[in-house]
Amino acid sequence: MTSPRGSFVVLEGPDGAGKSTQVARLATRLDALPTREPGDTPLGAELRRLLLDDDQLTRPGLRAEALMMAADRAQHIEEVVEPALAAGRHVVSDRFIGSSVAYQGYGRGLDPMAVLGISQFAAAGLEADLVIVVDVPVEVTLDRVGGQQDRIEAAGPEFHRRVRTGFLAQADADAQRWVVVDGSRSVDEVTQAIVTAVRDRLGLLNDASRARG
Ligand code: TMP
Repeated sequence: MTSPRGSFVVLEGPDGAGKSTQVARLATRLDALPTREPGDTPLGAELRRLLLDDDQLTRPGLRAEALMMAADRAQHIEEVVEPALAAGRHVVSDRFIGSSVAYQGYGRGLDPMAVLGISQFAAAGLEADLVIVVDVPVEVTLDRVGGQQDRIEAAGPEFHRRVRTGFLAQADADAQRWVVVDGSRSVDEVTQAIVTAVRDRLGLLNDASRARG
C-alpha cells in the first residue's frame, strides 16, 4: 500500500524575520522534514557559498544570481523535497519560489514573471500547499541582521523594502495558498499564528495535545 503524499509548507519572509526558528518549531510539531533554500544539498551548499560570499572574482550578475537560485532549487526539489513528499512525509522549507520572485524580481528588478518561470521550471512544477510569510518591517529586520551581513543582506534598505513589497504582493495575489503573519510579535506568538494557519488551511495539527507552546 502506498502512503498518502506529505504536505509541502513553505515559510517566506525578509532576512532577519526569525523564519529559521519558526521552521524548526513547525517541523517538530508536524514531524516534518525541515529544509531550506539555498543550500540544503551538497551542490546547493556550494551555490549558497558562491551566492552569499562577496568575492569580486565570482560575484554573479543579476541573471546568474537568479539562475543559481534556480539551480539550487532544482537540486533541492529533486534530491530532498520530492522524495520526502512521495514517501508521505511533510516538508517545511525555509524559502522557496516566493523568495526568488521577491529578491531577484522585486528586489533586483528582473521581470517577476520571468523569475517565476525559471523557478517553476526548476521545481518541476511542484507548488507549495501553503506559503506563510513571516512579515516584519524593514527597519526591524535590518536591525536584527546587524553588522555581519552577507552579500544579499548588505544590498541596502531600499532593496529590502522592495523585497518585502514582493512578498506582500504575492500573498495578495494568491490568498488561497498564502498567509501573512505578523513576525514582529514574540517568538511564541508567531509560532501560534503559524500553527493556526496550518490547522485552518491544511487541516493538520488538529490534535490540541500536540500544539504545545
Ligand atoms: P537565508 O539567509 O534565509 O538562508 O537566505 C539566504 C539569502 O538568499 C537571503 O538573503 C535570501 C536570498 N534568496 C534569494 O535572493 N533568492 C532565493 O530564491 C532564495 C531561496 C534566497
